[in-house]
Amino acid sequence: EAALGVARPLSGRHAIVTSGPTHEPIDPVRYIANRSSGKQGHAIAAALAALGARVTLVSGPVGIADPAGVQTVHVETAAQMLAAVEAALPADVAVCAAAVGDWRVAAAAGQKMKKDGGAPPALQLAENPDILARLSAPGPLRPRLVVGFAAETEHLAEYAAAKRARKGCDWIVANNVGGTGIMGGEENEVLLLSDEGAQAWPKLSKREVAGLLADKIGKFFA
Ligand code: CTP
Ligand code: CA
Repeated sequence: EAALGVARPLSGRHAIVTSGPTHEPIDPVRYIANRSSGKQGHAIAAALAALGARVTLVSGPVGIADPAGVQTVHVETAAQMLAAVEAALPADVAVCAAAVGDWRVAAAAGQKMKKDGGAPPALQLAENPDILARLSAPGPLRPRLVVGFAAETEHLAEYAAAKRARKGCDWIVANNVGGTGIMGGEENEVLLLSDEGAQAWPKLSKREVAGLLADKIGKFFA
């Protein structure tokens, strides 16, 4: 269907998008986080909605507004993000753009940790669940199309291809987060890996990357 002459190839489809960082508590006042701004994931959620999808955006703590026309669920930790994603299933497509904390503090302190004049505390970490790998695992609730991101600082194509195979997702959007300007920045230069091979996109605004990705997803479901 067309509204105002705009194609809506994703109408009737449900999309889940993860975005932003996670905060993994150390104690009630401290946490482990990362430099993700949520700009890319939020732009993807908005672009999918613009193509007619019903979008559930599961967002870690970010400093940007909820996109219009999207149902946004706010979470802090990776465990909460996984629970919110599972609660939002089923979906036709999932895009995991969040920079999920790889580790949490194994036993976060219940009270603010205090200096006691001795050695600094050592943080014992535990690995977080992999939301993208869970979504990609075969089963009745697997979305037909699962798209991951790969944040790398070196060997981009090689590491991203290995990540795609390891996680079992359909497409990987690989970006080089080395140097400055990408994480938290306005632009992104990505490599899209799929069964069709690798496609290098030029350096674009995050909004343009989101638009191209949404178009490609729209064509997939056409
Ligand atoms: N991801 C996820 N849950 C995690 C870790 C990552 O859903 N616990 C997703 C990210 O949203 C992204 C993809 O997996 O779509 C790749 O994230 P990345 O950090 O690049 O890869 P990792 O598998 O965590 O490996 P590493 O950080 O060691 O490179
Ligand atoms: Ca990681």
